[in-house]
Amino acid sequence: MLDPRPVSHEALAHARGLAAGYGGPPVLTGVSFDVAPGARIAVLGPNGGGKTTLFRVLLGELQPTAGTVGVRARCATVPQTERTRLDFPVSALDVALMGTIPRLAWWRRPGRAERRDALEALGLVGLREQADTSFGELSGGQRQRVLVARALVQDTRLLLLDEPFSGMDSQSAERLMRLVDRLVADGRAVLVATHDLDQARAWDLVLCLNRRQIAFGPPDSTLTRPVLEATYGAAIVPLPDGGRGELAIVPPHHHDHDEEAR
Ligand SMILES: Nc1ncnc2c1ncn2[C@@H]1O[C@H](COP(=O)(O)OP(=O)(O)O)[C@@H](O)[C@H]1O
Ligand SMILES: [Mg+2]
Repeated sequence: MLDPRPVSHEALAHARGLAAGYGGPPVLTGVSFDVAPGARIAVLGPNGGGKTTLFRVLLGELQPTAGTVGVRARCATVPQTERTRLDFPVSALDVALMGTIPRLAWWRRPGRAERRDALEALGLVGLREQADTSFGELSGGQRQRVLVARALVQDTRLLLLDEPFSGMDSQSAERLMRLVDRLVADGRAVLVATHDLDQARAWDLVLCLNRRQIAFGPPDSTLTRPVLEATYGAAIVPLPDGGRGELAIVPPHHHDHDEEAR
C-alpha cells in the first residue's frame, strides 16, 4: 500500500510503507516514519518484532521488499551486544579508531589525526581514561559507550542503538541517556531499540513494531494500553503499585533467535 504522506526536506531518514524480510514472508510490513534532526526515537517491540531488521534496512544492509526508505545522513549503529567478541584483544581506543576506517583511503592506516579524533570521542563518552583498557575488561555499559564513541568518530548524524540498555546498570543507562541528549542537541538523530517503557516515555517519539508498525508518534499517543497490547501481546502487565495505571512489560526471555550466521 502506498503511503502518500510527503517527506519533509529536513528528514535525515524516512520510510513509507516499508516491508522487509529474509527471503521468506516479510518479517516487517507497513512501516512509515520520518526522522527529523534532533529527534530521539524509541523503537519498541517484542523479541522478533523486527527492530534489528528495521535498523539493517536503514543501514543499507537489507533491501526493502516493498515501500521506500530514504537515508540522507551518514548512519552508524551500535549493535546488540555480542559476547563472543569480548575475548578479542583490542583496547577501547582500537575500537573507537575502527570508526575512522571508512573515511580513510584504502592504502592508509589510522594515523595521528585519527587517534586524536578517537581519543576526543572517548572523552565525549567519558572514557578517555580507559583508552588503553582492553575492550573485554570494560563493563557492559562502558562497552556500549565505546561503541557510541566509534559511531561518533564516523561523524554520523543518524545513530542507531540496538538495545543498548539490556544488561546495563541504571547508572550506566542514565549516563548513556545524558550522552544521547548531548548528541541530539547537536542536530543528530538517535533511534534506540529498547524494552524499557519508562525510558521510552522520556523520548520524543515512539515507534511500536510487532512484525508490522503498530504506532508511531509522541509517547502520549503511543504508550497507551491498546497500542502496547498490540505491540507486546500478553507480555504487558500493570505495574504493581500502579495507581496511575502505568504499564510495564515482562522482561523478554533471552532465547537468541537472531544468532546470525557469520
Ligand atoms: N538473518 C536472518 N535470517 C532469517 N530470519 C531472520 C534473520 N534475522 C532475523 N530474522 C527473523 O526476523 C524476525 C525479526 O527479527 P529481528 O528484526 O531480529 O527482531 P528484534 O530485533 O525486534 O528482536 C524474527 O522472526 C527473526 O527470526
Ligand atoms: Mg534485535
